[in-house]
Amino acid sequence: MTIRPILIHPDPRLKKVAGALPDISDEVRVLADDMLTTMYDAPGIGLAAPQIGVSHRLIVLDATQKDEAPAPLVMVNPEVILESDERNVYEEGCLSIPEQYADVERPAEVRVRWLDLNGSVQERDFAGLWATCVQHEIDHLDGVLFIDYLKPLKRQLITRKMVKLKRERAREAG
Ligand code: NI
Repeated sequence: MTIRPILIHPDPRLKKVAGALPDISDEVRVLADDMLTTMYDAPGIGLAAPQIGVSHRLIVLDATQKDEAPAPLVMVNPEVILESDERNVYEEGCLSIPEQYADVERPAEVRVRWLDLNGSVQERDFAGLWATCVQHEIDHLDGVLFIDYLKPLKRQLITRKMVKLKRERAREAG
């Protein structure tokens, strides 16, 4: 259970399309475990492998409310196989774009198929915050960030702030 450093936008590794995992090895299980630890530590409700610099189609999420028991999900090679016509707007954020939030419209409900860590196919419908979260994380596997849904000017503004943040952090690190 290791906390892995999270890449901050802009970073070319966040823009890559991640590769499907051919099989579920112990290495993948360790990676998923580290990702959950990193996500809860941040804290966040989702994390995709590219955010820690690993170009695999692997995400973790837990969008339960604070007063509910944790319900971590690990998804290998997740795919949205059905989406509702009804759409929903949520204010999204991202661990790779700290302290920046913006409204994003997405399908309100989605059906997702994935492999669990035992290699079994899982399929489940998601609604509400879970639906937004799982779509946001799957986007990461295709090199898509929530700011890519914003108007160019707003996106550039956020990107400039992140460049500045990274410069400050690099300076602090000496
Ligand atoms: Ni994100």
